Amino acid sequence: MREMIKLDLSRSRVDAQELQAAAAGLEEAKAKLWSGEEPFTGWVKLPFDYDRTELEEVLAAAEQIQKQCDILVVIGIGGSYLGAQAAISTLKSGKDNVPEVCFAGQNLSGTYHKELLDRIKDKELCLCVISKSGTTTESSVAFSILKDELYRKYGKEEAAKRIYAITDANKGILREETAREGYVSFVVPDDIGGRYSVLTAVGLLPIAAAGIDIKEMLAGAESAAAAEKEDRGAAASLAAARMALLSRGKAIEVFEYYEPSLFFFGEWLKQLFGESEGKDGKGIFPAALQFSTDLHSMGQFLQDGNQIFFETVLNVMKPAQDILVPESAGQLLAGKSMNEINQAAVEGVIAAHEAVGVPIIKLEIPELTPYYFGQMVYFFETTCAVSGYLNGVNPFDQPGVESYKSEMRKVLMKL
Ligand code: PA5
Repeated sequence: MREMIKLDLSRSRVDAQELQAAAAGLEEAKAKLWSGEEPFTGWVKLPFDYDRTELEEVLAAAEQIQKQCDILVVIGIGGSYLGAQAAISTLKSGKDNVPEVCFAGQNLSGTYHKELLDRIKDKELCLCVISKSGTTTESSVAFSILKDELYRKYGKEEAAKRIYAITDANKGILREETAREGYVSFVVPDDIGGRYSVLTAVGLLPIAAAGIDIKEMLAGAESAAAAEKEDRGAAASLAAARMALLSRGKAIEVFEYYEPSLFFFGEWLKQLFGESEGKDGKGIFPAALQFSTDLHSMGQFLQDGNQIFFETVLNVMKPAQDILVPESAGQLLAGKSMNEINQAAVEGVIAAHEAVGVPIIKLEIPELTPYYFGQMVYFFETTCAVSGYLNGVNPFDQPGVESYKSEMRKVLMKL
C-alpha cells in the first residue's frame, strides 16, 4: 500500500478535548456526506464508481487532441478550469508529443485575450470549452472569440472537429450548440458542482491531453476516499481543527507551500474553500502564500501582525529534483542540497511562528505525482465539505457568485 497524506496537529493549538468535542458533529457530517442523499455529493463516491467507459472515451479524446494540435486552449472559469490548471502546472508531464495547454475565459481582459490570440495564431489549435451552465459571461465571450479564430484558420467544418465541449447533459445553449455542430462532448454530472469536478471529464480531459496519467490520479483519489470511508483518513479531523480555530477568532487560513509548482493548487484551494464556506456571514477566509518568496513580504505580517489567522503548511516530502550547493556558498550552506535548505526553511518558519503563538497545521505530502495529486484533491474536498456542514452552511451552492453574474448581465444590457 502506498503512503497517505499525513496530518500533524501537534502545533495547531487545538487540543484532544476540542477534537473529542467535535467528534459527534463529525460523525453526523460524514454520514450526511456518504448517505448519497444530499444534493451535489456525487463526487464523494466517484473514485469508486466512475464510469469506466466514459474514462476510456476521455482518454481517446485526449489522444486525438494530442494528434491535432500544438496548443489546447481550455475555456472556463472557477471550478470549470482551476482543477485542470492546478494539476497541469503541478505535475508537468515533460512529454514532447503533448500540446501546450493555455487558459481563456478566466478573466475578461482584452489584453490577455489579444496576447493569447497573437501567441496561437501560427499554431495548430484545439479548444476545450467547459461550462456547466453554458451561460457564464466570461467563458461565452472567450469561446466566441476563439471559435472565430478557429473558423478563420480551418473553416467551420474542420473547426467543429477541434472543439471539445464539457457541459450539462441536457440543458443550456452550449449543449444545444454541441448537438447542432457535432462537437465531441462530455458531461458535467448533475450531482457534482464546478469546484468539486476535477475528477470528472471537466478536469480529466485537459489533464490527460497534457500527458498526465489520469488513471493514477483516480487511484490516488480512491485511496483517500477509502481512508475517509473507513475512518482512517485525516480530512475530517482537519475540518474539526479548522472549526475549533475559527471559534477562537482565527478567521483566516493561510495555505503555505514551498514548491512554486503548487501555485495553482493554492488558487484551487482558495476557490474550493472560499466559494464553499463563505456564506451566511460565516466561514474562514482562505489565503495562499508561496514561500520563501512571500516570507520576504507577508512573512512580516504572519510573525508580527494582527493574529487573526492560522497556517496550513503543505510540505512536500520528496520533491521531484534537487541540486547540491557548491563550496562557494560558504560553510553554512555548502555541501547541503537545495531541498535540505528548503526543509530548514519549513522548520525554521514553523519554529518562529509557533514561538509567537500562531496555530500551525502541517500536512505531509509524500510526492507531487498524479497519484498524490488525486489524494490531495479528494482530501481537501472532504475537509471543505465537512467544514461547511460543521459550520452550518451548504458547502455546495454559491449564491454570492450567482448574484454578481446576474448583476453584470443587467449592466451589460444597458451598454
Ligand atoms: O464551483 C462553481 O460552481 C463555480 O466556480 C463555477 O464552476 C463557475 O462559476 C463557472 O460556472 P459554469 O461552469 O457554469 O460556467
